[in-house]
Amino acid sequence: RLGSQFVQPAYALAPSARASARCASVYTNRTVMCQAASVAAPETVPATYPNVTPHIADRAQYEQLYQRSVTDPDGFWGDMAEQFHWQRKWDDKHVSYNFDVRQGPISVEWYKGGVTNICYNALDRHVAAGNGDVPAFLWEGNDVGRDKTMTYAEVLDDVCRLANWLRSVGVQKGDAVAIYMPMLCELPIAMLACARIGAVHSVVFGGFSAEALAGRIEDCQARVLLTASGVMRANKKIDLKKIADDAVKLCAKNNFKVETCLVYDNANAMPRSECAFTPGRDVWWQDAVADFPTTAEVEWVDSEHPLFLLYTSGSTGKPKGVLHSTGGYMVYNATTTKYAFNLSPGDVYWCTADCGWITGHSYLTYGPLLNGATNVVFEGVPTYPDAGRCWEVVDKYKVKQFYTAPTAIRSLMRSGDSHVQKHKRDSLQILGTVGEPINPEAWRWYHDVVGDGRCPVVDTWWQTETGGHMILPLPNVWQQKPGSATLPFFGVVPVLLDEKGNELKGEAEGYLCIKNAWPSTLRTVYGDHERYETNYFKPFPGYYFTGDGAKRDADAYYWITGRVDDVINVSGHRIGTAEVESALVGHNHCAEAAVVGFEHPIKGQGIYAYVTLMEGVEYSEDIRKDLIKAVRNTIGAFAAPDVIHWAPGLPKTRSGKIMRRVLRKIAAKEEDQLGDVSTLADPGVVQQLVASRQAAL
Ligand code: PRX
Repeated sequence: RLGSQFVQPAYALAPSARASARCASVYTNRTVMCQAASVAAPETVPATYPNVTPHIADRAQYEQLYQRSVTDPDGFWGDMAEQFHWQRKWDDKHVSYNFDVRQGPISVEWYKGGVTNICYNALDRHVAAGNGDVPAFLWEGNDVGRDKTMTYAEVLDDVCRLANWLRSVGVQKGDAVAIYMPMLCELPIAMLACARIGAVHSVVFGGFSAEALAGRIEDCQARVLLTASGVMRANKKIDLKKIADDAVKLCAKNNFKVETCLVYDNANAMPRSECAFTPGRDVWWQDAVADFPTTAEVEWVDSEHPLFLLYTSGSTGKPKGVLHSTGGYMVYNATTTKYAFNLSPGDVYWCTADCGWITGHSYLTYGPLLNGATNVVFEGVPTYPDAGRCWEVVDKYKVKQFYTAPTAIRSLMRSGDSHVQKHKRDSLQILGTVGEPINPEAWRWYHDVVGDGRCPVVDTWWQTETGGHMILPLPNVWQQKPGSATLPFFGVVPVLLDEKGNELKGEAEGYLCIKNAWPSTLRTVYGDHERYETNYFKPFPGYYFTGDGAKRDADAYYWITGRVDDVINVSGHRIGTAEVESALVGHNHCAEAAVVGFEHPIKGQGIYAYVTLMEGVEYSEDIRKDLIKAVRNTIGAFAAPDVIHWAPGLPKTRSGKIMRRVLRKIAAKEEDQLGDVSTLADPGVVQQLVASRQAAL
């Protein structure tokens, strides 16, 4: 096992950030076998699906296109961009990038010389082609029976009104705008309105706390915040305006002023009469925006103009503002959407993600609209009012492509087949998954029960940073294997490296890196290009490092094994253990905290927190609740630890580094597989932790 040696000089930026947060953890990444590996033969699945006629005829055609995409990126991606409107065309040689820190700063440029606008391409282009009456959004509310349809022309009208309002409050090209909204049509509309005027949207998931929202607003200096009064999620009312108000107050404490808050009165969940209102700063959306004209000039931008920021968790420090730019993101996004879901204009497509995450950006807002599809926008949750809701909605709108996360599949699977089988689902053709490895059992259930064996399962591996799908089975183009994301998309060259950065050939397991730039490569970490280089390009010079481990089998299929850094994936939500630790040690009774992931039957991974209290403080149920509250308040409820383990001491080496490997094994109840613990300063700590695990709640 070689992976524990994976502490490379350039990657060891952690100590100062960690030390300042009084966190106990250090880099000792998950062990990865960097060597030849064989993968067990999977169960068989149908080779062909008679219902699905793919855009690409077969594997041979894929191979041919793939070869061109990697040997002639200028030509291949130039062809893919032709369908869009460009105010000025890109240069013949439009691709340039440097992925090697030894050769100078990391840089990526796509469609050099080109000038375009993604909002124009997502909306105006379809309206101009006579498709204004095609539904763009089929909005399905939290409560059964609340719904609304918006055509492409209607969405364009609303986007223009809002774009005009944004301009009226002084938002200019390049300014960041924060969006903290529930899943109303107004959320993607807000994103598109920003794009129309060249403003950079920064959407913050509605489950984040006031503190997390404030940190994101301050980081990108957003002077305008778009939010809503509140929202119902299943039976729970969420007071978004109150959280937004608290965030704005926190910003003010740090001398940053949010000048304008546009608040959508989501009266069904929380009427405006129930909300606090700050005159001079707050404006009701319905009052302020309605009277603006339904046309708004398009801001034509260079291909590399920033489109959006999306904050995501890493191994260290605070979340990073991943920046995506316009042209490359647009073309890559539209192309992946088309081929992954075998999408054609007018198809009714449903992605259950929230726009607060990258999936909601790429495969709810931009990708489907760029392809002229009809998008289901769902405000609720898959299990409300019962576990049949998704299939009821599929039948209601005749959904053809359905895209969700393994955690949702596992939770619906647990509720039993009858919820699925009482609905017809005969419109379904493609089933997609994203966000975490899908276990073969859940894959099987999705394929056999939800899809009745008629629909290929598209397991899409990608990341916030990649902007679009990277490894996935193109439906009905090649044979699937349950649990494998299979082969790379056009233009993507994945490699597996050993801990020294050598490329492994053939069947192997190693660190998953990407050798070349693809059009929607993240361009920087907002305001911190050095962190961008350190995180993604210094661990293995010459490559983009994904943070994931993977295996490659004899058919060259990729099997993602999960994160190899200190990031855990809870219900498809990416959480940095350092962030949770920082929240825990922020509690004044907590001396030290170390957080690891553990296998969870529904969430994929759960959060297991080892906590050492200050001298003289007794562990109690009240303190446990308080510690969980500290995490909820600092990050959000979705990051609350599942287990708090009171640890009188943590397993440290003589140099003071915590052996996280040991903590993971104890959390997994695998203390018989601890490996070498001879370098621990006090090996007795391990037995103490095993003994005290019973008390972990
Ligand atoms: O570990 C991989 C996992 O999710 C990480 C990216 O998380 P995020 O940036 O939040 O984006 C999630 C939506 C794209 C990856 O590093 N991951 C994502 N999709 C898969 C996956 N792991 C296995 N299989 C997948 N299909």
